[in-house]
Amino acid sequence: MGIIKDDVLNKYNNFISELKKEIEELEHKPNQELKEKINNVKKKVELIKSEFLKGIVSQLLRELSKTEPSNKKEFGQEINKFKEIIENDIRKITQKIEKKERELKYRFNFDLSIKFLPDTPGKLHILTIVQKNLMNVFAELGFEIIDGIEIEDEYHNFEALNIPADHPARDMWDTFYFSGGILRTHTSNMQIRILKTRKPPIKAISLGKCYRRDNMDATHSFQFHQLEGFSIDEKINFLDLVRTLYKFVHKYFGPNTKVNFVPSYFPFTEPSAEMSISCFYCSGQKNDCSVCKGSGWIEILGCGMINPIVLKNVDIDPEKFSGFAFGMGIERIAMLKYKIPDIRMFYQNYVEFNQLWR
Ligand code: PHE
Repeated sequence: MGIIKDDVLNKYNNFISELKKEIEELEHKPNQELKEKINNVKKKVELIKSEFLKGIVSQLLRELSKTEPSNKKEFGQEINKFKEIIENDIRKITQKIEKKERELKYRFNFDLSIKFLPDTPGKLHILTIVQKNLMNVFAELGFEIIDGIEIEDEYHNFEALNIPADHPARDMWDTFYFSGGILRTHTSNMQIRILKTRKPPIKAISLGKCYRRDNMDATHSFQFHQLEGFSIDEKINFLDLVRTLYKFVHKYFGPNTKVNFVPSYFPFTEPSAEMSISCFYCSGQKNDCSVCKGSGWIEILGCGMINPIVLKNVDIDPEKFSGFAFGMGIERIAMLKYKIPDIRMFYQNYVEFNQLWR
């Protein structure tokens, strides 16, 4: 006769074999019931822990301390073996349950059939709509629209724009490199491409996809769109830049929108500025405004006077000509204008999202 009473062993064995039966039955349960049953089994596992592992085993250990020294070793081993059996059972059951939970979580329960949207004609993507509207505004302001290229070389994306190979600003514009070149990080490459074949006076915009080494989150994407604009002629000055952007803002965001310029830095413009517009939602009246975060101002683009070094790189005499340039993220403009909270929404192809915009 050992230290563990038969009725205790029987009780445990019965409990476990009942539980094992329950687990086997899980195979045939529909989703909803399965969840409930899994929870039941989990509760029982907790019961084993508290009643048998903690309760009975510690009770036995207490008894062990009172037994004859000659029995201690044998009884001790018996208790340990029982404890191991319980722990083993708990481990096996937990593994099974976790597997079931995983299956439940990843079980295919969505409709793979094509959803027909009756009477809903196809329409333009919101990014296309925004690009078209921006093009119209700049066309009205006398800008030519020139197509761009996305696959670039380092020279046109960086060096010609006064960003040498070891310049720290390269980090900010890091991109995808491959044997044939790089993916452009901004539309500024088009300043160089266009100015290599055309001479001033010139006033043009170019828009399209750009790429950066960014992880996706609500405001970043490794692929996005930009609009670049520039104007070069004799005697172009900063006021021309301000005046042009003012007109753009009034036409696109509304006639009451104010603009604000703060100094900034871009290797390809000198001086450089960041332009903000007054919040067209709350005009700075709401502390909890989701668009301007209560500041009243929203940063929308980078700009500046084209750096004479850049002009020289494209064989334009900076003594004779000067120019301004600006660049903006099209997703950012669209998110602000249409209160779209997450950049990823543009690329997820949800028909419902795409149908929202006219
Ligand atoms: N290329 C800059 C960017 O991607 C924007 C910019 C364009 C700034 C033109 C100044 C002039 O951040």
